[in-house]
Amino acid sequence: MGKATAQRLARDGRSVGVLDIDRAGAEAVAAEIAAAGGKAIALAADMADRSQVEAAVAETRQAFGPITIVVNNAAVENFAPIGEVTEADWDRLMAVNLKGAFLLIQAVLPDMMAAGWGRIVNISGFGAQIGAPNMALYTATKGGVISMTRSMAVELGSKGITVNSVSPGFIDTPMARRAIEGDLFPVPYEQILAAYPIPRLGQAEEIAAACAFFASDEAGYVTGQLLGVNGGAAF
Ligand SMILES: NC(=O)c1ccc[n+]([C@@H]2O[C@H](COP(=O)([O-])OP(=O)(O)OC[C@H]3O[C@@H](n4cnc5c(N)ncnc54)[C@H](O)[C@@H]3O)[C@@H](O)[C@H]2O)c1
Repeated sequence: MGKATAQRLARDGRSVGVLDIDRAGAEAVAAEIAAAGGKAIALAADMADRSQVEAAVAETRQAFGPITIVVNNAAVENFAPIGEVTEADWDRLMAVNLKGAFLLIQAVLPDMMAAGWGRIVNISGFGAQIGAPNMALYTATKGGVISMTRSMAVELGSKGITVNSVSPGFIDTPMARRAIEGDLFPVPYEQILAAYPIPRLGQAEEIAAACAFFASDEAGYVTGQLLGVNGGAAF
């Protein structure tokens, strides 16, 4: 989803800092964007580490100037029965999925405040809305993202900064494939999909399109919203 969103924002004319803990992955995405005529740099950072996030932000600022759009997409999953979730799992997921978003927002906020314009898009997830077996920790981090989004929107609205969340449903990505292969669900995943109003997996580009809307100039009166891109699986 991060790749599709970076590509979409680049096509919309934005200069993009592609941040990932996987340097090679970020470099490949930045190179594809450049090959397609867009502007992008690759940034290797662990979202859970304040100094790495701040260094990535500084590098992006140096390359492209003030940062006024941020999409918090990076996350890690933990698919385990609640009785088997360790304290280390808890701390890591909270650190990457929830604290990471906070760290990045805090690092770019001065640029948005100075510009009087900002777009913050946080990726949450439908599991936080409807619940999911073996995902209590993961969905707790996403519930935090939803709640943080709403409160930041209230706090920053008068500064010209919007804060919204895209809540993906079951989207065809490496993370979803790991879930499918992990045999987590009580019934085959095709049966889960068949019950959705739109009975198929979502595509990363469909998440990217929602992010692009929230990031656009035209969405200036839209804040604090949770947009489900989930085939109607949750509301
Ligand atoms: N795929 C789904 O069905 C689904 C459903 C609901 C929500 N989501 C959410 O959508 C977002 C994108 O998910 P995806 O399916 O593309 O996941 P993915 O696992 O395919 O990709 C996640 C990316 O985040 C990077 N990453 C992991 N830990 C990091 C860290 N500490 N610092 C920096 N980068 C890190 C990974 O290297 C990877 O490139 C996530 O926030 C995920 O929780 C996904």
